[in-house]
Amino acid sequence: MRSLSIYQDFVEAEITSYNLPASPNNLYEPITYFLGLGGKRMRPVLALMSAELFGSPFEAAKDAALSVELFHNFSLIHDDIMDAAPLRRGQETVHKKWSENVGILSGDALLIEAYKTLANYPPEILAKLLPVFNKTATEVCEGQQWDVDFETMETVKIDAYIKMIAYKTAVLVGCSLKMGAIVAGASDSDANDLYDFGVNLGLAFQIQDDILDVYADQNKFGKQLGGDIIANKKTFLLLKAMETANEAQLRELKALSTTDDTVQKIDQTMAIYGALDIKAKATDKMNEYHDMAMENLAHIALPEEKKTPLRDLAEFLLGREH
Ligand code: IPE
Ligand code: IPE
Ligand code: MG
Ligand code: MG
Ligand code: MG
Repeated sequence: MRSLSIYQDFVEAEITSYNLPASPNNLYEPITYFLGLGGKRMRPVLALMSAELFGSPFEAAKDAALSVELFHNFSLIHDDIMDAAPLRRGQETVHKKWSENVGILSGDALLIEAYKTLANYPPEILAKLLPVFNKTATEVCEGQQWDVDFETMETVKIDAYIKMIAYKTAVLVGCSLKMGAIVAGASDSDANDLYDFGVNLGLAFQIQDDILDVYADQNKFGKQLGGDIIANKKTFLLLKAMETANEAQLRELKALSTTDDTVQKIDQTMAIYGALDIKAKATDKMNEYHDMAMENLAHIALPEEKKTPLRDLAEFLLGREH
């Protein structure tokens, strides 16, 4: 079996050699900066693994892989503006290092690069990829809008939260896998099973992201700890806490949402999470989606050993520290 780093190194080399114009410097330098900060490269790796699973050399999915990573990075530059996030991958976010206007426009330019890269495929393959990519891109915007809308809503149902994270995060994971499958000429049914695997993996991944936002080790995390609490994000942790809190705890959680003292806000929210065993409950939910993802994978009629890279990547992602 190939190790994960073979796929990651391939993606890294493609990203490093990606050509952008030199001018205007304030449009393109932030893109080079942000792409150069690394990241796990999980979405492009999934696209490559998927093509290989269905019998194609993984290199055939290069442009699909690159395209989802460019799209992902565009979404992060804009997400950091929306979330007022100071840190990403251990470094300053684009809007902090430059300005919000630079973040908006370099994000836009990066989104266009994603489309240009996808357009390298011959027309008959592009015709199959584009509807998947477009549907996903629209859903990511819809999910991000719900995420922002929920900040100012007092309560949100867990079902609405799941739909929100499915759209903002999980569909892009599914899309990465489905595009790899399409490039390799997989059947519609196999491509859809792999898409479902990706969506369930993506749901588990976003719940893990919510957990890490509170409980990661700051030296390894690379983002601002407690950012979701500060921004009143309706994460799985907060919603589960609101669902299981007693009256006094619920009153305190609501009062905390209007507190300006961020240190106190984080400490007191975490104390309630601790009392309600929220980390364990969120981990259970994450594992539920992981198990569903594994069932989707089992559904694909290929030898189990061919699925090892995908299974290993899922384990790696859900055991991660950043
Ligand atoms: C961060 O994605 C945004 C989410 C959907 C949670 P990643 O955790 O994959 O970010 P990088 O690319 O590895 O930095
Ligand atoms: C990000 O969700 C989802 C997208 C970028 C589309 P988060 O806002 O939780 O991601 P992080 O925690 O900033 O990486
Ligand atoms: Mg964010
Ligand atoms: Mg966000
Ligand atoms: Mg997050």
